[in-house]
This record gives sequence, structure tokens and C-alpha cells, in this order.
Amino acid sequence: MKFFLDTANLKEIEEGVSWGCVDGVTTNPTLISKELGGDIDFRTLIKRILDIVNGPVSLEVTSTDSRGMIEEARKLKAFGENVVVKIPTTIEGLKAIKVLKAEKIETNATLVFSVGQALLVAKAGATYASPFVGRLDDIGEDGMSLIGDIKEVYGNYGIETKIIVASIRHPVHVRDAALIGADIATMPFEVLRKLVSHPKTDEGLKRFLDDWKKIDPSKLRF
Ligand code: E4P
Repeated sequence: MKFFLDTANLKEIEEGVSWGCVDGVTTNPTLISKELGGDIDFRTLIKRILDIVNGPVSLEVTSTDSRGMIEEARKLKAFGENVVVKIPTTIEGLKAIKVLKAEKIETNATLVFSVGQALLVAKAGATYASPFVGRLDDIGEDGMSLIGDIKEVYGNYGIETKIIVASIRHPVHVRDAALIGADIATMPFEVLRKLVSHPKTDEGLKRFLDDWKKIDPSKLRF
């Protein structure tokens, strides 16, 4: 299973990559808008993210018509080979995905909330589909059951579109996505940090180090 960081924050991306656990990054207009300001503009931010990350980096279009999406996609792709263009799951988005597939530009269909949408974006040629589990949970639905359903349906037909579990809110989402066998989980840095932590690890380490300190230093020559 691959882990992507769902952030445009350079410090978070640098830190996550240094742990050896980050295979890629996803962004969206909201995440990008939080990082722009001062001396940092969109181009500078994207170039810095691409300098840090070797794997796929999803950058989202903001046009709502297919022609605009395609033009934006070409410009975004020019930033780097590992750019994946995020396209909203709409009729115009499907048209754009089809054209971009023919141009060998990888796409990530975003804002997927149903099996039907997941099937359509796959048929149009999306490289990745991003179902949003947290936002479904927010409205009283079971986001993770959608992941299981999409996995099963894609499996039924040998569909190659990869499932990115998105809108992850906590480590249990990551565990459940892994149990289902989703290809990728994209998560905020805070969720990645929580995955490392366990109170029994902290307690156990403290006990080991306390016991170590009790040893006569003369007995500890390597
Ligand atoms: C996915 O690619 C999106 O950027 C993201 O997961 C949205 O998550 P949110 O529902 O926490 O905004």
C-alpha cells in the first residue's frame, strides 16, 4: 500500500519524506491556498514540492469546462514528469480525462462519492480515482464501505485505475483502507504522525532507557 501526504505544506512534506514513508503527494485548491503568500507564489511552491517528492504529485485544475481543464492540465504537466492532474468527477471532467489519457497525461479523478462515478472515471481512462471517505462519514454515510465496493467492482472487471482513499481523518481509516486492499491512502501529515505513535511504545522505551541508566558505566565499553 502506498502512502501519499495530502498537503501542500513544504515542512510537512520534507518531514514525511525524511521518514521514508511517503510515496507521493496530493494537493487541492484549498490546500494550495493555505500555503501561498509572502514571497511564495504558485509556481515557486509547486517547484519546491516537486524538488522534494520523487513519486506522483497531484495538482488540481480549477476550470469547469473540459477545454479549460485540458489546457490547465498541459501547463501543470510541464512542471514535471511526476505531475498527476486532478480532475473533478463531472461530465466535463470525463471528457478531459479521455483526452488527457490519449496524450499520456496521468489523471486523478477527484471528488468521487459513488461506485457509479468510480466506474465512469475508470472507463474514461483515469489513472487514479479518489473516493472521499471522511466527507461521506460527515453526512452519516459509511465512507469506507464505498472503498470496499469500488475495490470489488474494479476487481470484477480487471480495471487498472488505482484507488486513492482520500479525505482520511484518522489512523483507523488508514488501517481499514489497508485491510480492504486499497492501492493508496492519502492523508494529512497529522494522521501520518498519529500512525507512528503508541503509548506502549513510549512506555516501553522509557523503561528500557531507565534500566540502561542503572548499569555501571564501566561495564558499557563497546
Ligand atoms: C484528496 O485528494 C483531497 O485533497 C482530500 O483528501 C480532501 O480531504 P478533506 O475532506 O479532508 O478536505
